[in-house]
Amino acid sequence: MVHLLLEILQAPDPSTLETFLGRIPMVFNVVIASPHGYFGQANVLGLPDTGGQVVYLLDQVRALENEMLLRIQNHGLGVIPKILIVTRLIPDAKGTTCNQRWERVSSTEHTHILRDASNEIAAVLHGVPDLIIGNYSDGNLVATLLSYKLGITQCNIAHPLEKAKYPDSGIYWKRYEDKYHFSSQFTADLIAMNNADFIITSTYQEIAGSKNNVGQYESHTAFTLPGLYRVVHGIDVFDPKFNIISPGADMCIYFPYSEKERRLTALHGSIEELLYGAEQNEEHIGILSDRSKRIVFSMARLDRVKNLTGLVEFYAKSTKLRELVNLVVVGGYIDVKNSRDREEMAEIEKMHGLIKKYNLSGQFRWIVTQMNHARNGELYRYVADTKGVFVQVCGMDI
Ligand SMILES: *[C@@H]1O[C@H](CO)[C@@H](O)[C@H](O)[C@H]1NC(C)=O
Ligand SMILES: *[C@@H]1O[C@H](CO)[C@@H](O)[C@H](O)[C@H]1NC(C)=O
Ligand SMILES: *[C@@H]1O[C@H](CO)[C@@H](O)[C@H](O)[C@H]1NC(C)=O
Repeated sequence: MVHLLLEILQAPDPSTLETFLGRIPMVFNVVIASPHGYFGQANVLGLPDTGGQVVYLLDQVRALENEMLLRIQNHGLGVIPKILIVTRLIPDAKGTTCNQRWERVSSTEHTHILRDASNEIAAVLHGVPDLIIGNYSDGNLVATLLSYKLGITQCNIAHPLEKAKYPDSGIYWKRYEDKYHFSSQFTADLIAMNNADFIITSTYQEIAGSKNNVGQYESHTAFTLPGLYRVVHGIDVFDPKFNIISPGADMCIYFPYSEKERRLTALHGSIEELLYGAEQNEEHIGILSDRSKRIVFSMARLDRVKNLTGLVEFYAKSTKLRELVNLVVVGGYIDVKNSRDREEMAEIEKMHGLIKKYNLSGQFRWIVTQMNHARNGELYRYVADTKGVFVQVCGMDI
């Protein structure tokens, strides 16, 4: 820093100044708005509108706190950072802590969940925050309103924009209105993406698309909601406020199968049981009768977009594939009674239908969602040991 400062004093130039400023910690108080579903640290998964984003955010704030502490310390500052997750307070908390106004995030010192808003934030932080981060349409809208009210910097984290998920969802918005309220959602997204000071996305395609596909943000440039309004310049996809940061994986859990000395061989017994165990129960169904075949493997949420049933159908229809490889899918529940998600229930029924229709017995194994991260990491590597492949389904293109 001293070197940089000397350089600036002697020969100021924009790039040195930028580097210098970029290294000074200036963000100490951060608010993250996540009104979606039941936001709590335990017993929330499976409750309505509550999914992976909770775990994701809790991981995110822990990492953020560590990073902020490190930077502050490296600069010899005595500031204590504060991170607040602001979410809904739900009186009927269904056995969770979502009815408590205030809760510390475990494994953090300065990070809390606050279930209440605006004035409360200022009171808790003893002043306005420096930065507000929103996620998903509702979180981004809350972040927009708060950043406007408090005059602070707003960041949007890109989420799968619903507009791009359903074909012609603009033109046919009325068709989806009862179920999804797209008119409100697209409007909220449009306001939030324009108000945001910066937007973090994971790929360039997400912003401006490719030669053959429209980008998620790009689809908001111009569209019509007949009878409601018409958008002619919704978003500038070349605005420098777009930033691309590709998501990563936890390298402690997802390391290559070739790193023999790190492998969790103690788990192989239970993995074998998971893949080949003869028992048919709520945990897994289907038998792989020929263990010498390689495994085609997929693990994802059992929803329409991840299209695990599409993969199973594709496999079922290919005599060649069925001859050569086994198919293993990890996702969702097997017993539809355990699911509380409309879309997932439909996918579960579809999966059972496919197993019957194509008589997949002997070739296909369906395993329910696995929560043990360490074992999941080893499961990928175990499949790699069989010279298997992992498949991720992207919409229609298998
Ligand atoms: C944002 O919210 C969506 C929908 O709830 C979720 O799928 C995603 O993981 C969240 N992303 C972040 C970065 O919190
Ligand atoms: C799922 O995949 C199948 C191909 O097996 C395809 O026909 C179908 O349109 C896909 N569904 C979605 C929602 O992408
Ligand atoms: C389904 O496939 C299995 C194994 O290939 C076979 O033994 C069985 O007879 C088939 N069932 C039907 C109804 O075709």
